[in-house]
Amino acid sequence: MIDRAPTPFSSVSRRDFLKVCSLAAAAVGLPASAAEQMAAAVQKRKPSVIWLQFQECTGCTESLLRTGHPDVAQVIFDLISLDYTETLMAAAGHQAEAALDAAVRENDGKFICVIEGAIPVKDDGNFCRIADKTALHLTQEIAGRAAAVIAIGSCASWGGVPSASPNPTGASGVSDVLRNKPIVNIPGCPANPYNLLGTVLQFATFGTLPALDDKGRPKFAYARVIHDDCPRRPHFDAGRFSQRYGDEGARQGFCLYKIGCKGPKTPNNCSLVPYVDTPGAWPIGIGAQCFGCSEKGIGFNLPLFETVDVQGATPPAMYTPIDPASGIISPVATGVAGLVGGALVGAGLAYGARLSRDDRDGEARDEEKP
Ligand code: SF4
Ligand code: F3S
Repeated sequence: MIDRAPTPFSSVSRRDFLKVCSLAAAAVGLPASAAEQMAAAVQKRKPSVIWLQFQECTGCTESLLRTGHPDVAQVIFDLISLDYTETLMAAAGHQAEAALDAAVRENDGKFICVIEGAIPVKDDGNFCRIADKTALHLTQEIAGRAAAVIAIGSCASWGGVPSASPNPTGASGVSDVLRNKPIVNIPGCPANPYNLLGTVLQFATFGTLPALDDKGRPKFAYARVIHDDCPRRPHFDAGRFSQRYGDEGARQGFCLYKIGCKGPKTPNNCSLVPYVDTPGAWPIGIGAQCFGCSEKGIGFNLPLFETVDVQGATPPAMYTPIDPASGIISPVATGVAGLVGGALVGAGLAYGARLSRDDRDGEARDEEKP
């Protein structure tokens, strides 16, 4: 059992704790006052979370643990009662099985079941067995008794890496094998921990789940495609593209569409909520094209170099314009997305502005739009 904090503030300062609640509230689109309510709710009773892992690489757990400033890995143990997790618990073998049984019994019908990893369904699910039970059986048995289920990462959401063609094990997402349960999909490889934290805290505080789209994803994180809020977008609009991997254009921060960026068809909030709380720590931020890791049918299926259709080629009126005289992104850009918070958006804009100032490279300039 990992439930070492008798109060939410035992291992972090109240300030840091509220900061995380504020980020989580903002991430799910709730007002600032919700952060106080979240903090009060978990003070009374921390939500019980049972975390199951099947066909996966533990990347989503790793991502959760490597967040910092403040240390979310530390805070999350104060926010939730993580009653079962194979990666982090000390117990093994029969002890672990007993811990799972006890956690389900004590919180029957009230716990949140987080599932990381795909569920193989071919050959009666025999490709993944834990304690002699298949992942398929465990999903139906354990998640079937939860109040709500969160499929974290692309593998649990729709099959992810293990489902790549020809999908020899029949790797499937949670919603393919579990019916009649509220299921929230938070795809990504790895998923952003704040999207999980916000969803869990909203459920714990208000007993509601975030509004979901037709693929079961929270709209607060997946309503807009990467392309809408990408710091390289002004270069796309201006026709400045990287033409080859690692060329001068890529280094100058030009758009990566022509080398296969899937941002135009991939809904996610990667550019707005930085991984490990570090602005720039996401694929496009470090110069790699988005390969659509969170999008079924794109990530792990389309070749990296293949381009996708661009939806909404005309930039939204609200999108950051480039000042033609200076080539610098206009500061009148606060309408961009607005999903998370001024600081995060501001960081993205500052980065975009820096890219824009360096836009004079002749070699990679391409006046033709795709
Ligand atoms: Fe950003 Fe990719 Fe869109 Fe270019 S194509 S603006 S790199 S999301
Ligand atoms: Fe994945 Fe693309 Fe975000 S590859 S992490 S959805 S930028």
